[in-house]
Amino acid sequence: MNASTPARPPLSQASHWPAPTLHAREGALWLEDVALADIASRFGTPTYVYSRAALEAAFNAWQQALAGRRALVCYAVKANSNLGILSVFARLGAGFDIVSGGELARVLAAGGRADQVVFSGVGKSRAEMRQALEAGIRCFNVESAAELERLDAVAGEAGRKAPIALRVNPDVDPKTHPYISTGLKGNKFGVAFADALALYRRAAALPNLRITGIACHIGSQLLDPAPMAEAAQKVLGLVDRLAAEGIALEHIDLGGGLGIRYRDETPPAVADYLAPLLQVFTGRHEELCFEPGRSLVGNAGLLLTRVEYLKPGETKNFAIVDAAMNDLARPALYDAWHDVVAVTPHDGEEQVYEVVGPICESGDFLAHGRSLKVCEGDLLAILSAGAYGMTMSSNYNTRPRAAEVIVDRDQIHPVRERETVAELFASEHTLP
Ligand code: LLP
Repeated sequence: MNASTPARPPLSQASHWPAPTLHAREGALWLEDVALADIASRFGTPTYVYSRAALEAAFNAWQQALAGRRALVCYAVKANSNLGILSVFARLGAGFDIVSGGELARVLAAGGRADQVVFSGVGKSRAEMRQALEAGIRCFNVESAAELERLDAVAGEAGRKAPIALRVNPDVDPKTHPYISTGLKGNKFGVAFADALALYRRAAALPNLRITGIACHIGSQLLDPAPMAEAAQKVLGLVDRLAAEGIALEHIDLGGGLGIRYRDETPPAVADYLAPLLQVFTGRHEELCFEPGRSLVGNAGLLLTRVEYLKPGETKNFAIVDAAMNDLARPALYDAWHDVVAVTPHDGEEQVYEVVGPICESGDFLAHGRSLKVCEGDLLAILSAGAYGMTMSSNYNTRPRAAEVIVDRDQIHPVRERETVAELFASEHTLP
């Protein structure tokens, strides 16, 4: 193969980012100035590999699109909560969107500012509320009437006032996968739009709450800006009704959701995604807040894996690799597409493979029907794996979770050691 023409589009072309982070060099795949094969020999496989330049480019695209506005980009930690990743964003001045006390602890450990943290989620426990109040977070995005009462009580006990926004459910169709659409009436998320006014009144009457904003999040992997703009319009109507009742809001949180290119999608650039939204907010004084996850990390990461066996079958050929659904659950869970590319392409016969892992489930696949020239021992890169990859991994089949590294020009920073089997059952007990 020609060194300058990789088998499939490199990461930089497979996304809308300018950063040329993944490319072919000397007949092999490199991320920034590091050969992926070097990472595999030093750290083994499977390993998640991220590009610092790609992370920074993605964050900067958001910052630039919001330049001149009062706005805070709160990275949705659930997309990838590695401390190394969080520290990159903390340095760039990001806020953080969390959904658990565990994520708050990670943000603080990585150098994130508590006063730039928003806390989403339908099931906040009392302990998590106390923890977040003590840390002094920016806002609780409250998702039910019951949570409002509980938060008031916990804040009272702690002698604090809890800053709150109500997460409202604007009932717009984000036109994405049903598992990741969250703003429709039938979802468990947010409070019904019709109930919001009454709940704000109730919140205003509770002594230990301070109303600061409103929040919504309609879904993930959105490729069309229109539903967000529609949601924003609805939310603004509510903000104005609240103002008329003397409930003035300081910020409007529009959640996350911007999609990325996995295969042939054409997501809008951040600026184009935000343009119709920002139009809606022309002349408004409220600070805007966003909670992007996938669009900041998705195409900044890949999963490096090695082919263990090739297994020709009667109807299908299998490339059995050392990564599995426990490492990257998205294909099994959502039938999600991730590009699979050879790390050191070579001549040979192209064959169509099912790329599968060693787990004892038929659902354990990473990719169906891919044309690849591979031999046993070859390295493959599973692309667009930076978001909801490692964070959704598990230890199914007692498989230690993958290592993670961040590449920064020619440097490799190990940001998570590979788990050991001993660690997996260190906290378990046998019976006498
Ligand atoms: N804010 C809230 C309240 C959320 O629930 C989410 C994602 C985000 C922000 C970030 O959304 P993003 O910008 O990443 O679209 N596991 C699925 C995605 C689940 C998304 C859950 N909520 C996947 O692998 O596609």
